[in-house]
Amino acid sequence: MKRVFAALALILGLTGIYSSAQASPKEAKIGFAFSMTGGAAAYGDMQKKGVQLAVDEINAQAGQDGIKIAPFFDDDASMPQQGVNVFNRFIAADKVVMIIGPTLSNTAQVTDRIAQQSGVPVLGVSNTAKGITDIGDYIFRDSLTEMVVIPNTIRVAKEKLGIKKVAVLYGNDDAFTKGGYDAFKKALGDSNIQILSEQTFAKGDRDFAPQLTQIRSIDPDALIVSALVEEASGIVSQARRLGIAESVSIIGGNGLNSPALMKNAGKAAEKVIVGAAWNAASTNPLNRKFVEAFTAKYGSPPDQFAAQAYAAVYIAREALGRAGSTDNRKAVRDALAQIKGLDTVLGKFSFTEGRDADHAPVVQVVKEGKFEVFGE
Ligand code: ALA
Repeated sequence: MKRVFAALALILGLTGIYSSAQASPKEAKIGFAFSMTGGAAAYGDMQKKGVQLAVDEINAQAGQDGIKIAPFFDDDASMPQQGVNVFNRFIAADKVVMIIGPTLSNTAQVTDRIAQQSGVPVLGVSNTAKGITDIGDYIFRDSLTEMVVIPNTIRVAKEKLGIKKVAVLYGNDDAFTKGGYDAFKKALGDSNIQILSEQTFAKGDRDFAPQLTQIRSIDPDALIVSALVEEASGIVSQARRLGIAESVSIIGGNGLNSPALMKNAGKAAEKVIVGAAWNAASTNPLNRKFVEAFTAKYGSPPDQFAAQAYAAVYIAREALGRAGSTDNRKAVRDALAQIKGLDTVLGKFSFTEGRDADHAPVVQVVKEGKFEVFGE
């Protein structure tokens, strides 16, 4: 029987019909720009791990249509200028077909303009500030924006905790932390929750005692924090150390969505409430498989940053298959725009008309050092 198939394959091959099945796997060069150093390194580490797992899985199954992914990783160092260097290298020297990243919205605001001008598709996996995809029609993201996640977080927090008056503490020198503040302010207003005090800090600050002492004195029901995880960890630990009681809920956005919060803040992180786009406990079979494979490979479970990065590689893979090309940037852009209802670890995934992620958010709470679902 084997011989009959071999003979048939030979005839088809000679007539040209079988040639694609015998073609060697084609490699799509994708650039991955993540923050491996600097303030966002806790996110970048998880993103790279998520990507590597997905690339390994995809390349191991590449027999079906021959498409493999050749990953180019580089460190954007949590800084816009380094992001620009990385994007320029990916685009001009490595000649990638698309770029996944960078980690921070603050960097994406600058780098994505370069990709747009060069006609290179970008898939953001953690940029949650508003306006990133408005840069142009080559810019996509699979990360839900603060404008989607935060109203849901405030609605659930109000329903479950009955908060009426809050203090807000936010970073005023970063696109994401400022955007998160805008989203919180609007959601709090829409929910008739009073803002008693607004305080700010800057990236790299370590001492939050002046702001937290003022906040303690006005006795809010909750402390709203828009921060990246480095500063958020300091705020959470110092808030409890300075005597802001556990009954005063601490509520944050996507920046707090990392196990680095629990690692850095320890017990103080207990009961912190975090708006999220992905839920580790989801029973979606793809998600279960991902959590198991990730934990087996790396010895600790994934977080949302890993999940969104992992999902992005499968979204990219789908676009490459639909485009029927591993190097046509325009065809890959057009194929990305067509993706609807794709099964991913984030659930059924579609892009909105504006190339943002379209799926339901969740709210998590830290319990015994882990994120659990608080509400949906
Ligand atoms: N969500 C964060 C940002 O957009 C990491 O910068």
